[in-house]
Amino acid sequence: MRIDILTILPKLLESPFSISIMQRAQEKGHVEICIHNIRDYATNKHKNVDDYQYGGGAGMVMSIEPIASLIEKLCEERTYDEIIYMTPDGEVLAQNHCNDLSLSTNIMILCGHYKGVDERIREKYITREISIGSYVLSGGELAAAVLVDAIVRLIPGVLNDETSALTDSFQDKLLSPPVYTRPPEFKGLKVPDVLLSGNTKEIESWREEKALERTKERRPDLLEE
Ligand code: ADE
Repeated sequence: MRIDILTILPKLLESPFSISIMQRAQEKGHVEICIHNIRDYATNKHKNVDDYQYGGGAGMVMSIEPIASLIEKLCEERTYDEIIYMTPDGEVLAQNHCNDLSLSTNIMILCGHYKGVDERIREKYITREISIGSYVLSGGELAAAVLVDAIVRLIPGVLNDETSALTDSFQDKLLSPPVYTRPPEFKGLKVPDVLLSGNTKEIESWREEKALERTKERRPDLLEE
């Protein structure tokens, strides 16, 4: 899979993809993540990428031209499954969207800033708008990092134990059950006996029961869907 990210703050995206699972995924060739600086495509004297909004009002708007030039250049080079705009007014990201997107060949992600991008960019090029939650970040970069992480870890071969992505919370519309590691007792708090029993059938049904219990308690909405 190839992921192109369009940003005015490329530095902000350096570290999320340069360590741990995301780094290994790129080294092993599962994903190529290309970060593009929108400012490199600005043609005006001061390399401005934003402008005052028509109709007045506080806040700048990201200009069409540099973004359009970059998107068109990339689209000449390959076909994109989705051109995504990260925005608080997009569809709220959920695991099923990540599952679908992990099957893509090429994805482009545009990170918004200021008051957002000129609406005509959204009309002409964007195929999907995604929010990572009902709150406003300073820009779309951290949201793009969340989206890319959630997608890339689902690509077969990225996680060492392939089943571990399948047993994540949400994959079966349930939250994950509690997990424990050594020691068996900490300050009077004991690991449930069943997990030490070695009885895989009983362990499995205990986990199912706890996952259901936790989902009912914390996210009953998942069970109603
Ligand atoms: N940009 C600013 N806030 C955002 C959010 N919540 N989700 C996606 N992109 C954003």
